[in-house]
Amino acid sequence: MIKRTLRRFMLPFFTKLERVKIIQTIVHEKKAKTYLEIGVDQGKVFEIIHGPLKIGVDPVTPAKKVKKILDEKNIYFQKTSDDFFSEDAPHLFANRKIDVAFIDGLHEYKQVLRDIENTLKFLADDGIILIHDCNPWSKAAAIRALSFDEAINIAKKDHYPDWDGGWTGDVWKSIAHLRKNNRNLDIFVLDCDCGIGVIRQKTSSAHLNFTSVESLQYEDLANHRNEFLNLKAAPYFFEFLKEIR
Ligand SMILES: C[S@@+](CC[C@H](N)C(=O)[O-])C[C@H]1O[C@@H](n2cnc3c(N)ncnc32)[C@H](O)[C@@H]1O
Repeated sequence: MIKRTLRRFMLPFFTKLERVKIIQTIVHEKKAKTYLEIGVDQGKVFEIIHGPLKIGVDPVTPAKKVKKILDEKNIYFQKTSDDFFSEDAPHLFANRKIDVAFIDGLHEYKQVLRDIENTLKFLADDGIILIHDCNPWSKAAAIRALSFDEAINIAKKDHYPDWDGGWTGDVWKSIAHLRKNNRNLDIFVLDCDCGIGVIRQKTSSAHLNFTSVESLQYEDLANHRNEFLNLKAAPYFFEFLKEIR
């Protein structure tokens, strides 16, 4: 208990800029009342974030660490995000909105896009959506697969020379898709922790020219990374904080 409390309070301040620190800082700055996490896994993030009502969604049995903290302020839905949004979200968010969401479930473009679009339906006007794994560093890291194990198998089978055991999937396409198609969202990706996408509801002047996101390849991203992702160096986070204060 003492260890967990120490980690909660000290970790965000003394670690490099990564997802826990980014999420906890935004939660704190916005005095968030409701936090949604899609894809909880071992609870590395879910356990530490403190302050708001936390809602975690993941089809697997909650990890021990997660089970331990579950109560009326730490809720877990053991189901897919699609089922959660159709069966639970409408009444759960009837009288409260999502202030901060972290999307880190199935790492597949269309699913991530659906998770973002579903979250937007219940997001507070000034709410913020964060998305993990938006900036793959190699073709191997960006392998299109429905699980890490599948990605490993593809990397082995197709002899990807740059496979280094890290994997983001094609989450990046959901960012490119929204940057191309939705002018009512302000979107950028922080260049840290595999790329943290940040989305809020604000008119944007982004204008991307490619025709179909579906057919884009990793090479297209490599050649147009800044344009597709609106990639920002990690310290930009502190500029962003000034804007949302
Ligand atoms: C990368 S892990 C999440 C890590 C966690 N957010 C963290 O930062 O430590 C991805 C999780 O997404 C879950 N997942 C897979 N498909 C999902 C779906 N359709 N809806 C919600 N979660 C899903 C997996 O079971 C897995 O636990």
